[in-house]
Amino acid sequence: MSGWKLGIIGGSGLYALDGLEDRREHTVETPWGPPSDALVSGRIGEVELVFLPRHGKGHRLTPTDVPYRANIAALKMAGVTDVLSISACGSLQEQYAPGEVVAADQFIDRTVSREKTFFGAGLVGHVSMAEPVCARLSALAANAMEAVGGKVHRGGTYLAMEGPQFSSLAESRLYRQWGCDVIGMTNMPEAKLAREAELPYATLAMVTDYDCWRADTDAVTVTNVLEIMAQNTALARRAILQLAHSLNGTPRTLSPQGIETCLDFALITAPD
Ligand code: ADE
Repeated sequence: MSGWKLGIIGGSGLYALDGLEDRREHTVETPWGPPSDALVSGRIGEVELVFLPRHGKGHRLTPTDVPYRANIAALKMAGVTDVLSISACGSLQEQYAPGEVVAADQFIDRTVSREKTFFGAGLVGHVSMAEPVCARLSALAANAMEAVGGKVHRGGTYLAMEGPQFSSLAESRLYRQWGCDVIGMTNMPEAKLAREAELPYATLAMVTDYDCWRADTDAVTVTNVLEIMAQNTALARRAILQLAHSLNGTPRTLSPQGIETCLDFALITAPD
């Protein structure tokens, strides 16, 4: 076996993954409650995949209500080696047009109403989030996306907002001044929790709109997000399968960033 077991978190528009061999669906429970939906597992050749729709089938969970801890715990318990997030986002820069993809490598967390850590209850740890994305996984995902015809921007800062309302014009302008590239509602605290779970995490942020800052472009609405989302979703599906194909025959090694052992340096609570 290749040793790769990819956890895929599907965002808005991506609620199922076709084309898997040995497809199985399993309902799981975690110490943090049930995840957003049943896990779907299968494989492409030697590469195993476990798919989870972030908002649940039929898009039932708001970004605030997504059970981020249970989702990451469920993937960890399923034995995934890496987590790739797919999500819709708004563009905060002219050069990232709807239909394009930003493989974000930094986040600004402006979410305020979510459980953000597995620590607590007498155990304290502080993981580093200086480099929140696994550079290797991000590059592999970007390569796969390009191979299926996607236009990818490698690197970029993703601002995570609470939502579910979209931003005001003043907020959108502020985030642009901060140097942010894209805006979405879900990659935080997901990336933080993945790191605490010692899971390499990367994200393909699929641009659906120009938020509301751009002169002569209407402010984002669900209608214009949906218009571009179908095409983005088709591309994301192809990229995920391509990624799995590309990893066949490449035995997995540990992430060069030491993500799988990051808790070795993170715990601060004195042993009993
Ligand atoms: N998801 C898609 N477009 C978005 C936007 N403009 N703001 C926040 N989340 C989004």
